[in-house]
Amino acid sequence: MQDQRLKDFLKEFIISDSQLQELYKRFTSEIQKGLTLATHQQADIKCYMTYVQDLPTGDEMGNYLALDLGGTNFRVLRVSLQGHHEAQIDSKVYVVDKELMTGHGTKLFDHIANCLAEFVDEHALNDQHLPLGFTFSFPCVQVGLTEALLTRWTKGFRCDGVEQEDVGRLLKEAIARRGDLEIDVMALLNDTTGTLMSCAHRNPECRIGVIIGTGCNACYVERVENADLLEPEYKVDKPNILVNTEWGAFGESGKLEFVRTDYDRKVDKDSLNRGGQLFEKMISGMYLGELVRLVLADAITQNLIFVRSGAKQRLTNILKDNSGCVETRFISEIESDTFPAFHQTRNILKELLGLENVSVEDCQKLKNICECISKRAAQLVAVGISGLINKIAEPHVVVGVDGSVYRLHPHFDSYLREAMQKLVNPKINFELMLSEDGSGRGAALVAAVAAKN
Ligand code: GLC
Repeated sequence: MQDQRLKDFLKEFIISDSQLQELYKRFTSEIQKGLTLATHQQADIKCYMTYVQDLPTGDEMGNYLALDLGGTNFRVLRVSLQGHHEAQIDSKVYVVDKELMTGHGTKLFDHIANCLAEFVDEHALNDQHLPLGFTFSFPCVQVGLTEALLTRWTKGFRCDGVEQEDVGRLLKEAIARRGDLEIDVMALLNDTTGTLMSCAHRNPECRIGVIIGTGCNACYVERVENADLLEPEYKVDKPNILVNTEWGAFGESGKLEFVRTDYDRKVDKDSLNRGGQLFEKMISGMYLGELVRLVLADAITQNLIFVRSGAKQRLTNILKDNSGCVETRFISEIESDTFPAFHQTRNILKELLGLENVSVEDCQKLKNICECISKRAAQLVAVGISGLINKIAEPHVVVGVDGSVYRLHPHFDSYLREAMQKLVNPKINFELMLSEDGSGRGAALVAAVAAKN
């Protein structure tokens, strides 16, 4: 049973069926605006062209390098495509610290080139001239497969000298500055494009790739005649184009205000990209922990939880002074925990707030707070995925999904499906499929498909 006072307190996170429908309406209209030349500039959801027009067949072969920047870590990968829908992948994670994330772009790209050189050296690939796919997971205006102008940074990155620049060129220049690497940069892509390609490699009915991780975004297969922004020469031979929606920006012109809370506004205010990515800030791993932190601090102040601890002031101080202290993975751990032992919850509370002997009721309340916030996130994602499925309007649509929130959270998938049942056209059968290494395998596939053309 949920405590009635806490339930009332959390009410503003509950999305009603009519709000869900309204969100759906507004979302699909923004997608349409983004696709249409005359309204593209004003659209929240830009629907960028990726210049990827072919899905993989599964027969692709060859060795590729891939770079993956824009999630929790930076990675370098070697991908060997082996035909028969198979791929083998080696990868190494490299740290990108805060200083690199917010310093000058040259430093960031030099670091990327250095990591790449180290990887090539360690794998004895120096003399192989491997083609490379660069998964760069930020909003970009692509000018072709190998040229992508960064529109703006998201997810805690803010390096000078990169916005409006071609990140393909910045990478090539950094490689050239070293002078010891021979690499062909074949393709630049978003992680959602990688996810879609990687899932389509295993299942040819995949039409949508979604990331619910540090950030949140989706890519889907659109018909060229609906892609106003695509130059006519790309419409002659190919029926489709992958579109990177950048749906994380939804809400920037006020369309989410009817569901946003003051907690969402505070998370935005404290972020590096104020006013930007408002949909993403209600959903993704970079922000969910922050939401729980702020809500929990308020719940303590209002004597709704941990009252018996007698440490109200101390607890709220800890929470209020330490942004980032509630990690999003805690939400998954708390929601996975079992009544009445609540082992993981107790460990987290001890570590985070120095609380011991917490009552079962308080553990349950904390779980309820987390549930409200993650369920709302899943409902918002459902709005987006359902909008795209109905737009594609094929009888059977497979959706590839990846990202830490989706992978680690025990109920995100079921919250998502529950809300999708309310929105997807009942004549359409849909399937959600976990993606396998979209940023690596997907990058190699884009490079492979590009090489074929
Ligand atoms: C952010 C980025 C987007 C990326 C997503 C998931 O929304 O802007 O490009 O796909 O995060 O990583």
